[in-house]
Amino acid sequence: MDNFTFYSPTKFVFGKDTEQQAGALVKEFGGSKVLLHFGGKSAEKSGLLGRVRESLKGAGVDFVELGGVHPNPLDDLVYEGIDLCRKNGVDFILAVGGGSVIDSAKAIAMGVCYDGDFWDFYSYTAQPKKALPVGTVLTIAAAGSEGSGDSVITKKDGMIKRGTGGECIRPKFSILNPALTQTLPAYQTACGATDIIAHVCERYFTNTKNVETTDRLCEAVLMAMIHETPKVIADANDYEARANIMWAGMVAHNNIVGVGRDQDWNSHGIEHELSGLYDCAHGAGLAVIMPSWMEFVYKHDVMRFAQWATRVWGCKMDFADPEATACEGIKRFREFLHSIGMPINFAELGAKEEDIPTLVMKFGLPEGGRTGGFVKLSSEDIAEIYKIAAKATL
Ligand code: NZQ
Ligand code: ZN
Repeated sequence: MDNFTFYSPTKFVFGKDTEQQAGALVKEFGGSKVLLHFGGKSAEKSGLLGRVRESLKGAGVDFVELGGVHPNPLDDLVYEGIDLCRKNGVDFILAVGGGSVIDSAKAIAMGVCYDGDFWDFYSYTAQPKKALPVGTVLTIAAAGSEGSGDSVITKKDGMIKRGTGGECIRPKFSILNPALTQTLPAYQTACGATDIIAHVCERYFTNTKNVETTDRLCEAVLMAMIHETPKVIADANDYEARANIMWAGMVAHNNIVGVGRDQDWNSHGIEHELSGLYDCAHGAGLAVIMPSWMEFVYKHDVMRFAQWATRVWGCKMDFADPEATACEGIKRFREFLHSIGMPINFAELGAKEEDIPTLVMKFGLPEGGRTGGFVKLSSEDIAEIYKIAAKATL
């Protein structure tokens, strides 16, 4: 196991009606003038925003509002948010929504405290050091942004999707009420579940040896997701299953299951070009990419894939042919994604095979460059993975 520091100071308030504590929590973390940030119509329609406004008023916290965060959040609203915060002396940002709203809030939080262009953080020319405090009321279990120090934004000019990370943007508190996710369409629920599973897999496929504890934690989260997800697809109002998935989404991405080991993250990078170019849901893009990435790389460590296949997917270990076991695991993974309504190839996602050179170009590896923690991929390898994804079948 590698050396590590694990520091995850977000306060999580979990359960029914917990959004009513939003105002008190903002106050607890020193907020007196809040930017209430949200997405499209869902939070207004469900009555959630009304309840959060009441909670802020009840706690005597003043606020201004900025809605309209696009799924795969865009830079233009971030600039608007930075201006609004500066003009109104905002000292705390409350994000009500999913990963997109939370990531947009984090970008605004950094931008307000930075003299240059906030995009510097996403083009890797500056490191985030300071940000306004952010709190969240989560409405979809997916990105894990409620417990992570990461943010992903798309620059409208060229539709370039990039991420950044820093301790200063880890939320001060996150309110996790599973009942809020009951209004999600089945497709969005499944996209979120796929993202959660992908966050664990990015960490599971590692070259670090002797990581039994985190291996087992990863396997536990994956098995819980495989068990719980079909329940919420069948019954959107299954609170207990929603609750398990919501906590899994946090655990999958605050890095508790990934410490002390190298991690891959190429499936995410390869997917971000799809959601950047086609504006598809991140989870749907991952459903197409992740099994394809696995098919391309499994020979790098057949036994790790065979372990995953037996422990997580219940495959029978074929000691004479571990490769067959590894491949059976990948097959079951893709079948599972299909069973919850996810696309499995380019056509089902709405992506085009002829765009592969553009996707690889946008990925932006320098000539001769390689990337990834588990298997280092070249641009040619990435093109191959897109080709597998384009034609994938069950
Ligand atoms: O905008 P509204 O009307 O709220 O609709 C949203 C949106 O259309 C809807 N929705 C959310 N909660 C709902 C609801 N509809 C009904 N009832 C509810 N309770 O769902 C749609 C998707 O929302 P979004 O916030 O985009 O989903 P998600 O949480 O999956 O976030 C995706 C973004 O997070 C990034 C992705 O790349 C993508 O941009 N990621 C962020 C990460 C991070 N910060 O750590 C890591 C991830 O790997 C990921 O890359
Ligand atoms: Zn993700």
